[in-house]
Amino acid sequence: MKKYFQREFHYDFLLLEFIIANNLYSEKNGLESAILSYEERSEEIVIYGVKYGDRFATKLETLETEMSALLNLPLTEKIIREGIVEYHFQTVKPERLVIETSTEMEKHTNKIEINLGYGIVYSPVECPHILVSGGTGSGKSVFISYLLLEFFKRKSTVYICDPKNSDLGSLSHYLGEEKVATSPNNIARVVRLAVTEMNDRYKYMNENFKYGSNAIDHGFQPVWLIFDEMGAFQASGTDKKSKEIVNEVMNGLKQIILLGRQANVFILIAAQQMRSETLSTDLRDNLGLRIALGANSSEGYRMVFGSATPETIPPIEVKGSGLLYKQGTGKSGEYYESPYVDMQKFDFIEELKKYI
Ligand SMILES: Nc1ncnc2c1ncn2[C@@H]1O[C@H](COP(=O)(O)OP(=O)(O)O)[C@@H](O)[C@H]1O
Ligand SMILES: [Mg+2]
Repeated sequence: MKKYFQREFHYDFLLLEFIIANNLYSEKNGLESAILSYEERSEEIVIYGVKYGDRFATKLETLETEMSALLNLPLTEKIIREGIVEYHFQTVKPERLVIETSTEMEKHTNKIEINLGYGIVYSPVECPHILVSGGTGSGKSVFISYLLLEFFKRKSTVYICDPKNSDLGSLSHYLGEEKVATSPNNIARVVRLAVTEMNDRYKYMNENFKYGSNAIDHGFQPVWLIFDEMGAFQASGTDKKSKEIVNEVMNGLKQIILLGRQANVFILIAAQQMRSETLSTDLRDNLGLRIALGANSSEGYRMVFGSATPETIPPIEVKGSGLLYKQGTGKSGEYYESPYVDMQKFDFIEELKKYI
């Protein structure tokens, strides 16, 4: 962990200056001033604005840009409470994960959680399903490849649908024709396989009912359905026959999104551009982890994050960086850098072969 700044701040002095510079005081009827205070925590500093119902109250709720500039730190959270506004700033910069060739020792793991780096740990059981969006070249394939290895380390069954037959489609050679699909008919077949597996698990668990037990207690390993280029697939539904296929597939995906978690069956959806026609907002809201890679329009972010779209979008310049939202944290989308892969050194296929 790196400190953003080595230099110690004199926060009292800074906040005093801030009040003056932003006109948060008045001398008209005696001295009136907004009250700011702060608390230094191990990885953040919290600035409090105390609201007295006076004329500074509204202004105190909208100071994020000014405060972020004052501290030169990224705002991680703003909480508006009844009597107080909290601005949280990160003082420790989270570190990006760097992917290296694994050793034999760390072949498989029983851990459910996946370390995504940058301070983010992901558990599909707590936060089922993943959405990755981003334009061409934003790093979707690199990120999905990383996840794919992590799925295999956890002895998962992985199904792949790649309607554009790009990077992932070529994995059929290693993962088997029956689990990797690129044509619409094959995609429908693979989705059916995943749905059937989910339903079979439900059936088994009902027949062998144990109160309070879940799929993992019954020994079911994770199933991951990776669906790349969702938008392109939907666009392929041009005539009656192909529309039927698209509908059937979307129906299958919907079942997995809504029912998968209990059966340890999950979906990862990737799309260049999210639209409400790509995935209804209801279904989108059931995808627990959502990542938008690369710079996007605010409308684009809204399609991914909905009400969790951050008010201010940080600059997104680093390859493989973007915004990440994890359900249940109460936070909006936050700046994130996906695991760094040195493309010259890292051989994805060689790595994959260790696990399959
Ligand atoms: N996490 C990353 N680490 C290192 N390089 C990356 C990363 N993400 C993207 N890149 C670079 O950007 C290129 C395009 O990424 P890619 O995953 O193919 O984008 P997309 O699938 O979104 O079109 C990669 O070939 C690589 O050079
Ligand atoms: Mg790609």
